[in-house]
Amino acid sequence: MYTNETDFENRMVDPEYNAADTETENPLRPKTLSDYIGQEKVKENLAIYIEAAKKRNEALDHVLLYGPPGLGKTTLAGIIANEMGVNLRITSGPAIERPGDLAALLTSLNEGDVLFIDEIHRLPRVVEEILYPAMEDFSIDIITGKGQMAASYHLPLPKFTLVGATTRAGQLSAPLRDRFGVVLRLELYTPEELSKIITRSAGILGIGIEADGSLEIASRSRGTPRIANRFLKRIRDFAEIMSDGVITYNTAKIALDRMEVDELGLDSGDRRMLSAIINFYGGGPVGVETLGAAIGEEAITIEDVVEPYLMQIGFLRRTPRGRCVTKSAYLHLGLTPPDCAACPPEQQSLLD
Ligand code: ADE
Repeated sequence: MYTNETDFENRMVDPEYNAADTETENPLRPKTLSDYIGQEKVKENLAIYIEAAKKRNEALDHVLLYGPPGLGKTTLAGIIANEMGVNLRITSGPAIERPGDLAALLTSLNEGDVLFIDEIHRLPRVVEEILYPAMEDFSIDIITGKGQMAASYHLPLPKFTLVGATTRAGQLSAPLRDRFGVVLRLELYTPEELSKIITRSAGILGIGIEADGSLEIASRSRGTPRIANRFLKRIRDFAEIMSDGVITYNTAKIALDRMEVDELGLDSGDRRMLSAIINFYGGGPVGVETLGAAIGEEAITIEDVVEPYLMQIGFLRRTPRGRCVTKSAYLHLGLTPPDCAACPPEQQSLLD
């Protein structure tokens, strides 16, 4: 069994936000829709909703953004606020512990403001329940005291826009999901889009970069701008020592090889997970809980962080009976795919 739990901690390719990203991400965040690269469908729709709301002089309808971490949900919330000409307040599901915390936040908003709640699926139930009337009727009922001292207050709220973000819309309760007028799914970025983002970021940070250097970083950044920008920062160090401060294809390649991120952006954590499915479960199918126990990782992290990219590049499939590794994953790892006659039905079509 794999017991090396550090594999999935502090990964360069972890799309989840970490403190070291703050300093790089803030100046890099685009402020307008026209500066935002990729997510074309999302941008097109948002541009229309924003323009229409502005024309009517109304707050924008509540927006739910969902998709894998690191794709720019907070950035989009900032853009919505900026394009609407209102303030942005940022919080997260786990940070709002009690109804009073949410009431304090909501009553401090101005007309039209955007309230961004990251990880909205992690809102405590009691808080979620007061969010419903807040979203629907722009009012909340607060009960203070207990027994005979109990009193109920009806508080009107300014018309605000809630922007909720979650890694999976399926994790939200149906009543909460139904209260969002606009639901947008963010997709992993293509290498070409990521390359444009890297070039833009390099320009802002004053880093010299050649086009094929940027494409090399992009193709190893697993569809995620947060990872691409993190690589850019690290590879700049290599470039200063190796290539007069300019990131060339060679510098990018050598630096990423040294960081043990392969041509497709897989790190040792990904490779160990794929190897575990192959070595312990004959390539699958294996349930995500069982797999998590085998590699020392929580099922939710595997589902939200590790799997989306492996599925996008066609290395992993989710089947009703569990996860299966595909032929291309075997080949990428330098292994011979098994003889299909021996495979369970789910696997056969993946190995043809
Ligand atoms: N930085 C991070 N994400 C970005 C995006 N989608 N467009 C431009 N710059 C970005």
